[in-house]
Amino acid sequence: MYEGKTKIVEDLGDEVLLHFKDDITAGDGAKHDVLENKGSICAEVTARLMKMLSEKGVYNMFLEFVPPKKIRARKLKMLPLEVIVRFKKAGSFVRRYGGTEGEDLPQPLVEFTYKSDALHDPLMCVEHLEVLGITSREVAKKVMDEAVKTATILKEFFQGHGYELWDIKFEYGLDKDGNVCLGDEISPDTMRLRKSGEIFDKDVYRRDLGDPMERYKVVLELCRSISL
Ligand code: C5P
Repeated sequence: MYEGKTKIVEDLGDEVLLHFKDDITAGDGAKHDVLENKGSICAEVTARLMKMLSEKGVYNMFLEFVPPKKIRARKLKMLPLEVIVRFKKAGSFVRRYGGTEGEDLPQPLVEFTYKSDALHDPLMCVEHLEVLGITSREVAKKVMDEAVKTATILKEFFQGHGYELWDIKFEYGLDKDGNVCLGDEISPDTMRLRKSGEIFDKDVYRRDLGDPMERYKVVLELCRSISL
């Protein structure tokens, strides 16, 4: 068993059972709340999106949705990284490099950050991953290619429902044969999703803009177009 901020990972031997918690956090855990149904909404959104990605040839952890808030998944050796794909400028990108929220980037941008609350998730380049022994250049390149491909499929899915995917965070691991595999979660917690200036993601919580679950439920409803 391993317990993180928003999930519990139960070891089943060759597989794991991910329990999605009702906790929501922001700002390195500085802000923390428990919101009813959050775990079940994020688990079901993750399950349906991962199922759609599998059907489109994206290798990922998903095996089975166990309602209301668990996912049976492949066991992976997770890389201690957050892999962010950005289509538009927002959030920490704007704080770091300037520009305006929602401005287009000329091409999808992949960023790696080191998963460490104590170090505040520092940005890393491929050379950092190599010299710190996190992963090889080859694996890093594979992760970058997979992340852009996966984010583009999701962007097109949401576009089909009238929503803009601005950016998204993925986490990757290696399966028992050493293959790069998408893990963790894909939900309004891990992406910026907008429609005509309205926010359907965790920025509602980060910026105190009302009840985040009202927006997350809208995202769940559109994901229910994907069968499980
Ligand atoms: O905050 P920042 O602009 O770097 O976030 C980029 C994307 O990654 C956003 O969609 C955000 O929700 C997601 N993210 C995340 N977990 C983090 C940091 C960012 O899901 N720890």
